[in-house]
Amino acid sequence: MSDGLRVGMLGCGTVGAAVIRMLHEHAGEIERRAGTHVAVVRVAVRDPDRQRDVPLDPSLLVKEPDEIVSAPDVDVVVEVIGGIEPARSLILAAMAAGKSVVTANKALLADHGPELFDEAVRRGVDLLYEAAVGGGIPVIRPIREHLAGDRIVRLTGILNGTTNYILTRMTEDGSSLEDAVREAQALGYAEADPSADVEGSDAAAKAAILATIAFDTPVAAKDVSREGITAVTADDIAFAKRLGYVVKLLAVAERVGDSVSVRVHPAMIPTSHPLAAVRDAFNAVLIDGERVGPLMLYGRGAGGDPTATSVVGDLIELARGRAAAGTITTAAHAAHGESVRSLLPVDDVLGEFYLLLDVADRPGVLAAIAHAFAHHQISIKQVWQEGHGDEARLVIITHVAQERTLRECARTLESLDSVKAIRSIIRVEAGEG
Ligand SMILES: NC(=O)c1ccc[n+]([C@@H]2O[C@H](COP(=O)([O-])OP(=O)(O)OC[C@H]3O[C@@H](n4cnc5c(N)ncnc54)[C@H](OP(=O)(O)O)[C@@H]3O)[C@@H](O)[C@H]2O)c1
Repeated sequence: MSDGLRVGMLGCGTVGAAVIRMLHEHAGEIERRAGTHVAVVRVAVRDPDRQRDVPLDPSLLVKEPDEIVSAPDVDVVVEVIGGIEPARSLILAAMAAGKSVVTANKALLADHGPELFDEAVRRGVDLLYEAAVGGGIPVIRPIREHLAGDRIVRLTGILNGTTNYILTRMTEDGSSLEDAVREAQALGYAEADPSADVEGSDAAAKAAILATIAFDTPVAAKDVSREGITAVTADDIAFAKRLGYVVKLLAVAERVGDSVSVRVHPAMIPTSHPLAAVRDAFNAVLIDGERVGPLMLYGRGAGGDPTATSVVGDLIELARGRAAAGTITTAAHAAHGESVRSLLPVDDVLGEFYLLLDVADRPGVLAAIAHAFAHHQISIKQVWQEGHGDEARLVIITHVAQERTLRECARTLESLDSVKAIRSIIRVEAGEG
């Protein structure tokens, strides 16, 4: 232990560089809290010759990540390369060499979590990943440890800062989706290709990880029903506002009987809902536990420094528990090693819905539409007409209905002469508490 905890880093980009800076600048506190010195001993990057703004001897930068995962002088590996390969193979190789791993890689965990956790247990090492969901927000450890005695009923999260920023601009400035995306790109919140964010796959990966630990049931990204924000229009946002709602991209994981439903989709939430106050690029997770009740975790879901806080927290946890390496992962994995709940198809989920229809402006239209809803046994909570003549539109909010029935009703509506088009269908969330 005299050498302290020797860390090998895979990657020195946004997160990796912030981890190195934090370990250097907070070295005193970290050593006291970890009970040992935590030192970066080698860092793999694609281009070791590039100048980097990190407090690190350049001779520690290497091109070959394999050197790090097998090096005898590395105790713990931090994977902040991202993507599936070579990250997956490198993590498996590090574990095979008896090293615990800290990763921020949600895409990898959501696709290959079971394989990686099985390997960690088999090798008696730990795999920690606080940074993979919610950047700087502590959410994995609170669910895994603090709430381990409770039963989680529902998790509702705003897990993607880019889409939350875009929806905030649309709500507060009346921007179009396209303008808001451009603004997010100019500020560095959105990538040049924003599809992983706007189509919901980043949030789906995080939802899969949270659902796995909250419900002791392995959930992969592909199991998550996913709808992004690309179909949300300025009109939807404006109607939501008039009804007292805001539109958010929600990740929802909930217990429904013996099953679990995990989904990502835009939803209208009342302005009084705790998640309605989560603006700009912030993230939050609202947890409903059987005993604890509602509990909300809020903060910066991305960015080098916030994410590095989570990575360094995991390193400190590993440093403290070195004598018992593997115990954190083994204990957590024992719970969700066997699937205790089936996954509920999104068609079976119940909820309220908002519909925006282009309709003919003539007598009897409302009656025909109301008849279609009645035929599918969906009751209407609110309805009003906007505009006249060719501009006539109908806004409808339903009472609780099953998603499958709502989709069947939408097909019936589309077949009516009086309905020119269904512009939008968005789920409506009930208020909290
Ligand atoms: N950025 C965030 O705010 C954030 C938040 C939460 C989680 N995460 C996750 O953290 C991980 C890292 O994200 P990031 O934003 O820090 O990425 P990034 O800025 O693109 O950095 C990636 C780093 O990995 C290195 N690298 C890539 N491929 C490599 C290879 N084959 N061999 C050796 N080194 C390689 C790169 O080297 P070069 O420097 O030479 O190019 C770079 O240093 C991802 O899994 C991401 O999802 C990021």
